Amino acid sequence: MGITIAPFDAADPAAIDAAYRIGAAAERADLPDFPPFCRQRFTASVRHPMPGTVRLWALARLDGVPAGYLALDLPQLDNTDNADAELVVHPAYRRRGVGRALHEHGLRLLREHGRKRVIGVTVSALPGGVARPQAGDAFAAATGARPALAEVRRRLDTGRLDQAALDRLAADARAHATGYRVVRWRGDTPEEYAADVAYLDGRLMADAPLGDLEWEPERIDVERLRATERALDARGRRRYHQAAVHEASGQVVAWTLIDLGPSADWHAWQQITIVDPAHRGHRLGLLVKIENLRYALAHEPALRTIDTWNAAENGHMIAINEQLGFRPVDAWTDWQLTI
Ligand SMILES: CC(C)(COP(=O)(O)OP(=O)(O)OC[C@H]1O[C@@H](n2cnc3c(N)ncnc32)[C@H](O)[C@@H]1OP(=O)(O)O)[C@@H](O)C(=O)NCCC(=O)NCCS
Repeated sequence: MGITIAPFDAADPAAIDAAYRIGAAAERADLPDFPPFCRQRFTASVRHPMPGTVRLWALARLDGVPAGYLALDLPQLDNTDNADAELVVHPAYRRRGVGRALHEHGLRLLREHGRKRVIGVTVSALPGGVARPQAGDAFAAATGARPALAEVRRRLDTGRLDQAALDRLAADARAHATGYRVVRWRGDTPEEYAADVAYLDGRLMADAPLGDLEWEPERIDVERLRATERALDARGRRRYHQAAVHEASGQVVAWTLIDLGPSADWHAWQQITIVDPAHRGHRLGLLVKIENLRYALAHEPALRTIDTWNAAENGHMIAINEQLGFRPVDAWTDWQLTI
């Protein structure tokens, strides 16, 4: 029988379940320190894609047994030449051509949709760091993709937070942040901040170092922000936000987000942090991050571990994270392939 590939969608729960099991097995093998692979998040990512993107799914079978899956994201509102790919093969069925077959299937689809480039992410070990498989990098290189952005994941053990040092950092940051007040919320963004937060969210891909990745700033307005919130609700994400308001203008000029999912109450992701360029240099990034960390911990008594990613060249954000106690775990590479 060999390798067969079939598209699937939200109407096919058996295929969704098969793909979920492949993802869970791969993550257990490749990233044993991750929280359990979240079924609700995975299922919702099929049934309820992020707004502004079309997601195409395919399941590969090896001699009839589900062995790998591909998810292609096709942005619709911006980045219409680009695509993101998630390509995963079950650890028990690797090195038998399943990955290559899914990749070729994906290339055909991307050509049909007129896309010019595709991005995929791999993990590898840091020098002297924990072991990680070499398969992802070797596979990406074998497809002809080029490494376009180097990132590092850092992890914070919240049990080892130095509260006195955090107090000093926060006090020092506040002394540099006169004229700003810090506000916070859980879940959906209050209406009064929504337009500013959408603007900041859209800036992220313009402001964060992207290396050689060709990715346009995303067009995010309040409608897209609200639709993203519904998609995150469907994934069961509990969200903690902290923002800085510029008192003279009433504008939100800094924003950060920590979120957790239903598969583990001990683990969170430190997501986006952004300070509007006109308001940098007031330690607002550090201030909102410290306050948000404390806010999330106050509501999540089981929380012990927070992971975050930074571009290896993002010295400023890395310095903030190191001050909070985040330490490097592994290396991540964004590969870009011109089709
Ligand atoms: C990377 C991954 C998808 C490869 O799947 P696979 O089915 O084993 O890949 P294939 O058998 O089709 O391999 C294709 C080529 O990739 C390269 N490759 C794959 N795994 C490799 C490994 N462990 N060591 C060296 N080269 C490897 C080889 O060039 C291979 O060709 P060859 O077997 O003829 O030498 C799989 O290991 C995986 O799911 N890893 C975790 C997720 C991931 O990193 N995805 C890639 C995102 S871009």
